[in-house]
Amino acid sequence: MSALPGSPEGTAITGLDSSPVDAAALAELPPLTEQTRVEAREIIGRYPVARSALLPMLHLVQSYQGFVTPEGVALCAEELGLTKAEVGAVATFYTMYKRRPTGRHLVSVCTNTLCAVLGGQRIMDALSADLGVHHDETTADGSITLEHAECLAACDYAPVVTVDYEFYDQQDVDSARELVAALRRGEKPTPTRGAPLTDFRGISRQLAGFSQHPDAAAAAAAVDAPGNYEPTLRGLRLAAERGESAPPMRGPEREPADAGEPRETVRPSGGTGESPGQEAADARVAAADTPAEKAGAAGSHPDAPEPAGRRLPDGRKGTDTPAGQEPGTSGQGPGGSARTIEGRGPKRRK
Ligand code: FES
Repeated sequence: MSALPGSPEGTAITGLDSSPVDAAALAELPPLTEQTRVEAREIIGRYPVARSALLPMLHLVQSYQGFVTPEGVALCAEELGLTKAEVGAVATFYTMYKRRPTGRHLVSVCTNTLCAVLGGQRIMDALSADLGVHHDETTADGSITLEHAECLAACDYAPVVTVDYEFYDQQDVDSARELVAALRRGEKPTPTRGAPLTDFRGISRQLAGFSQHPDAAAAAAAVDAPGNYEPTLRGLRLAAERGESAPPMRGPEREPADAGEPRETVRPSGGTGESPGQEAADARVAAADTPAEKAGAAGSHPDAPEPAGRRLPDGRKGTDTPAGQEPGTSGQGPGGSARTIEGRGPKRRK
């Protein structure tokens, strides 16, 4: 019989993770203390529903021990009244929660499409060869954990590398090698933009909602630190020069004052019978130069059909889940018993 999920003799977090616990690594960790619990309860106090605090609490325990340990899982479970399996299910879902000891710095190399074609994969391969580690592995000296990452939402700065989630933009193999060499020398190179570099445990503490700055002014100064935003600004300048703008957001649809009247009678009267918003949308579709622009303009037109799956036949919005198959139930169809898990009510996915 396998060990209990989250137990020291079990796996790193739960039975969902097949990697064994490294007993030596666990023995070297600083234990979670009463102070950790005090801070966990402070986090819980920020939310109207206690279990909403789980994500920052996982960052908190990670900030103390460098990864989400069985002890960290147990603390979160105890404080929130959840099972270890429930906490482990969340911790294993998100890649920012680490399942094994993490180095002083986490180096993430974007190997998603745009970064990859511009050299991201070459950077990953070079760092992997230099450090002697592969994805999600840590150097023997504990200085660097290397991972490849999916799109880091900075495609205009490709190829992108982050260290402890701070951005180092437009890297190449040589600059990334120098960046990592500096980290291993104990230096903290200034990120291309955003806050100054800390380390993995430090950023985990910030993600738990605890500032490392002495006061609000220092925190604001760090976040607003000078940076190079040229690629984004270049795009904005080009759009301005070409008179391009993003399609306007569609506001909530209003029901006609009298739902029984024909629709035309409630529109402002005009030459075409259309509202000013519809006429403007018609003009944007007609003026679009490219198929992509035309599709975007048509999609934002007030008369565009509702995308499939967003409107039910009777006009309600939402996903049409058959009765009895809602999340958290037994999954049986109509006529089956619709049990909720441990009587906690339907589970919702984030
Ligand atoms: S593809 Fe690398 S940041 Fe988007």
